[in-house]
Amino acid sequence: MRLRAIWGWTLLLACVCGVGGRLGSAFPSPKTWWTKQITRQVYAAGRLTGRQIKYAADAGFRTLVSLYQFEGNVSVGGDQLLSTPASRDVAVRLSEITFEAMPGMMSLVDVIQKFAEIRSHSPTPILVYCRTGRLASFVSLTSMMTAGLLSSDDVMIRGDSLGYNYGSMQHFMAALTTLSARATIMSSVPLVSLPSWQWLWAMKPVFRNWYVMGQFQRSDVSRLRQTGIGTVINCRAGVKMSSLEIPSQEEVNLLNIADFTGKQTTRTYYAGGRQTRRRLRMTRIDPDKPNEFISVNSRRNYEGRNAAEYGDEVGYNETLERIHMRQAGIQYHHTPVSYTTSSSMHVYSRADVSFYLSTWVNAGAGRNVVVHCDTGYRALQVALIGAGRQYGLPSSWAVQRARELGYHFDEETGQPVVKLLRAVLG
Ligand SMILES: *[C@@H]1O[C@H](CO)[C@@H](O)[C@H](O)[C@H]1NC(C)=O
Ligand SMILES: *[C@@H]1O[C@H](CO)[C@@H](O)[C@H](O)[C@H]1NC(C)=O
Repeated sequence: MRLRAIWGWTLLLACVCGVGGRLGSAFPSPKTWWTKQITRQVYAAGRLTGRQIKYAADAGFRTLVSLYQFEGNVSVGGDQLLSTPASRDVAVRLSEITFEAMPGMMSLVDVIQKFAEIRSHSPTPILVYCRTGRLASFVSLTSMMTAGLLSSDDVMIRGDSLGYNYGSMQHFMAALTTLSARATIMSSVPLVSLPSWQWLWAMKPVFRNWYVMGQFQRSDVSRLRQTGIGTVINCRAGVKMSSLEIPSQEEVNLLNIADFTGKQTTRTYYAGGRQTRRRLRMTRIDPDKPNEFISVNSRRNYEGRNAAEYGDEVGYNETLERIHMRQAGIQYHHTPVSYTTSSSMHVYSRADVSFYLSTWVNAGAGRNVVVHCDTGYRALQVALIGAGRQYGLPSSWAVQRARELGYHFDEETGQPVVKLLRAVLG
């Protein structure tokens, strides 16, 4: 009984810290890795599915702002991009977060001013979205400019660093000129090899042909292909540690279940497994959530399986992703962090890098590559090393680039990554 109480308490702490605490930290949340960090309180995204809205609520977002009035649900793969009224319903009624939507037919300058106002009085963190994240990031940045926090050049530079070429949008430039004291004439240099990467806006362009993602959904894979990605590198643990035959599945995202309750191998399998009914009930984020948060006919207020993200009855099953990649005709490399040589599950060891480097470099030669893990944290290490080696870029570039993408390796928890990047890239 006593052990059980302690376990429950540890989990409770983990939950409290997990919600909100993770946002804006060195680790993006596994449920909301696809958000584009603008500031510690404001994040941008493209058009959201119902699951993404629920994930945002689970991860601790307090306000959702839609820049459009979307009419009708649109299906993508197996998912639905929700209409604005449906999004409001999922946000307010099921997820208990604030929802604001811009009325249609507003000028861009008015949208920026309205957003600045919403930002000043809404609970944070705030997630603002449009179709691809381009407008949402631009509006967030220009609202900071009107508050005197950024210059118009900063807006352009931040836009480039996110992979959005604002300079190609005439009405963006017109609004920027109207709102800033002086005209911005900055030709922006496209950072990315794929102008159409925004079809899958959840990707994070790192450098030219290198992109990073957290755990994508099965339904994202056709868009990966359409976008021009032919190669996937997976950094997540496989079902077994390679040489040791020891089970090593990672946790999978589950609605209303706290993150990082099964991250360590032992804990995934602890007390019968992370996805047993007992553990699931104990690790709910909000025990009072309505069952409808999960789905209309759900009999429970939490999720116990997630097949859309290659989950099985234990957790994330890499074999399922591997099979799907083969069926989709995507080149696939599996290069997980080694349990035996790494001191942290989140950081590659020097030995890992020696072992995988030629795989990574060859994968990037002449191809567009997505590297992924659960949050992008491990994947970004690979993409930075791959791009750094391919284009002769130093570790100072890599650390700066990580920060621009919302991964703060330069802060205390990221120091082992900085050491690794220094050792490999110089
Ligand atoms: C859109 O999706 C929501 C949430 O799944 C659903 O409640 C709503 O009925 C759908 N709307 C239409 C017009 O299909
Ligand atoms: C993972 O998925 C594969 C393919 O469906 C299945 O054969 C296997 O039993 C699953 N679990 C493990 C631990 O391998």
